[in-house]
Amino acid sequence: MSFLQEFDNEVYALCEKELERQTDHLEMIASENFTLPAVMEAMGSVFTNKYAEGYPQKRYYGGCEFADAVEQLAIDRACELFGCKFANVQPHAGSQANGAVYAALIKAGDKILGMDLSHGGHLTHGAKPSFSGKNYQSFTYGVELDGRINYERVMDIARIVQPKIIVCGASAYAREIDFKKFREIADEVGAILFADIAHIAGLVAAGEHPSPFPYADVVTTTTHKTLAGPRGGLIMTNDEEIAKKINSAIFPGLQGGPLVHVIAAKAVGFKYNLSEEWKAYAKQVKSNASVLAEVIMKRGYKVVSDGTDNHLVLVSFLDRDFSGKDADAALGRAGITVNKNTVPGEFRSPFVTSGIRIGSPALTSRGMKEEQFEIIANRICDVLDDIENEAKQAEIKEELKALAQQFVIYSQPTY
Ligand SMILES: Cc1ncc(COP(=O)(O)O)c(C=O)c1O
Repeated sequence: MSFLQEFDNEVYALCEKELERQTDHLEMIASENFTLPAVMEAMGSVFTNKYAEGYPQKRYYGGCEFADAVEQLAIDRACELFGCKFANVQPHAGSQANGAVYAALIKAGDKILGMDLSHGGHLTHGAKPSFSGKNYQSFTYGVELDGRINYERVMDIARIVQPKIIVCGASAYAREIDFKKFREIADEVGAILFADIAHIAGLVAAGEHPSPFPYADVVTTTTHKTLAGPRGGLIMTNDEEIAKKINSAIFPGLQGGPLVHVIAAKAVGFKYNLSEEWKAYAKQVKSNASVLAEVIMKRGYKVVSDGTDNHLVLVSFLDRDFSGKDADAALGRAGITVNKNTVPGEFRSPFVTSGIRIGSPALTSRGMKEEQFEIIANRICDVLDDIENEAKQAEIKEELKALAQQFVIYSQPTY
């Protein structure tokens, strides 16, 4: 019997139920993944007991020799993985990493230019409900009706706005990001270039998406999306002055004691990302997403930008009489977890939307390949074709549950 089961059967039972849910459903939220049992073990390790305010060799508490070693390992592996000189592995999550970049490099009220939330940007890129839109004067660029960034238009906007920071990177953009073009735009207006690669980091690490280095001044990512590591954030740069400012912005600026157990787990995750196996995984993620896009388009649905270069597919229902919310709910009843998403030309509210975002990373981690993605894409279209038919959705749910159960996530309980 596990310690958890013995001590707190209520929480244990909820963990069991969550594993059952993750096993029986097809997890296709583009920002989710299944991490390794080794990562989970490190997250549940004795490092959770340790306070280690400060940085390796510069701590405010005693007894940090092993915390120092594990944090240095995570830093060294992150730098090797992304080919950069400095990394801060302490951000508790992606939003904190982004907050630290602004806090380190600009002042309250300064201008930032990022991708519009409704066009695929993230809340922390200047959206009004977020600290980034409240503390800074935020301006946005978007995508054209074809679903792609028009770099000349971004240049025009940047010339007018004259931002201190330009943010590139997105939460719902299916095409490659041209960091070199963003560098040219930043240079034209004298802005700092900040790349948030939270969604594509796993592909970048494997050489399956161009790297933001050497173009971006500062790069952030989460470690739990395509990187498949523990839930957390990471900030990287090649500039020593920026690195110093970032370190102070994280601690003591925004955070207190680091989550040393999560830092240990980040180190384990980076070891996985540095392996040959990882390169094969990232290739498969892209190939599976492109099968999804092809089948969905063949079945007559509009895929934003007519395909994908990465791990996600955005499907638009602007030409249909149902919303993203309807599709999300119907697919949920069929055992497929996706999220509703705004699309270019959106006229519905962000709570309703006219699209869905579908991702391949999690199911690829379960071992699914093109063959399974073709079946799943067809079932997605079967649901959408007859969106009010709940009996059909229940039938598809059973079929997909049987498919899902062939791909074991964890061979032994890891909670
Ligand atoms: C591009 C991008 N940046 C930052 C974040 C924030 O990450 P977190 O949820 O870990 O705060 C996300 C999360 O969805 C994201 O998509």
